[in-house]
Amino acid sequence: MSESRSNSQLYAVMGNPVRHSKSPAIHIEFARQCGIALEYRAIEVEPGSFARTVEEFRAAGGQGLNITVPFKLEAYQLADERSARAELAGAVNTLKFENSGAVYGDNTDGVGLVRDLATNHAIALKGKRVLVLGAGGAVRGILGPLLQQGIGSVVIANRTVSKATELAHAFAAHGDVNGCGFDVLHGQRFDIVINGTAASLRAEVPPLPDELFAGQAVAYDLMYGDQPMPFMIWAREHSAARVTDGLGMLVEQAAESFLLWHGVRPQTGPVIEHLRQGASSG
Ligand code: ATR
Repeated sequence: MSESRSNSQLYAVMGNPVRHSKSPAIHIEFARQCGIALEYRAIEVEPGSFARTVEEFRAAGGQGLNITVPFKLEAYQLADERSARAELAGAVNTLKFENSGAVYGDNTDGVGLVRDLATNHAIALKGKRVLVLGAGGAVRGILGPLLQQGIGSVVIANRTVSKATELAHAFAAHGDVNGCGFDVLHGQRFDIVINGTAASLRAEVPPLPDELFAGQAVAYDLMYGDQPMPFMIWAREHSAARVTDGLGMLVEQAAESFLLWHGVRPQTGPVIEHLRQGASSG
C-alpha cells in the first residue's frame, strides 16, 4: 500500500463492494470546507483479509477508517476501545487510530439517522409511534440512538420473526420495543416507518398492509440510490405524507465520523444538496 502524499492526513472507507461509495467525495468536501488537507481512499477488501488490510493501511500512515458492509462486525472485534453507541449497536463503522497505538471504534449510523430526521427534515421524534422493517445489522445500528430520542414505541417487524423478537428483547431496557412478523401489522398505524430490510436490493417490498401510515406519517428508507427505492414508491402509493431515502443519513454519519477524527463538525446541508443534484443529473 502506497504512503500518504505530502502533509495530507490519510483516511479511507473499507468494504466490499466499495467502488461506488460516496464517502470519499463527502469527506473531501468536508475537508475543503474546514481547510484540512485530506486524502481519502476507497479500499475494497477481500473476505478474510480485513484485519491485515487495516494493519497495512495504518502502516502506510492511515489515521482512521470508515467501515461498511460486510466488515462492521469485524471492525467491532478489531477495536481495542469502543463508544457506548458502538457497544449497543454491536457494530463499528468508524475506526480511529489513537496516538497511544489503541484502535478506537465508534458507530455513527444511528446518530446519522437521528440528525437527518430531526435536523434536516425537522421531524419531531418524541412520543412517536415508529415501525422498523427488518432486524439485521442495519437496524441494530439505529435502534439505540432512536430510542434515546424519547420515541413513544418501536415495533420491529421482520420476515424471520425470531430475529425481530430477539432484537426487541436486546433493546428492552432502552424503551418500549416489540418484535413481530409482517402479518400482525394489520390494523396498526405508525407515524414513522423506517425500511431497514435488504428487500430493495431485489426490487422487493416487504408484505405490508395497505393502511399503515398515520396522518402526516414519514416513510424513510435507510438505503439510497439514483432512483427511488421500491419501498419509497410503495409508501407514496399508500399515502405517506413524506417519503425520503437514506442519503441524508449517509452524509450525517460521515459528519459524525469527521467530528471524531478532526474535532470539527462540517456543514452537511450543502453536501447533501450537491449529491442530490449529482443523482438527478445521472
Ligand atoms: P444488513 O446488514 O443490511 O441489515 P442483514 O443483516 O443481512 O443485512 O439483514 C437483512 C434484513 O433484510 C433482514 O431483516 C432480512 O430479513 P430476514 O431476517 O428474514 O432474512 C431482510 N430482508 C432481506 N430480503 C428481504 C425481502 N425480500 N423481504 C423482506 N425482508 C427482507
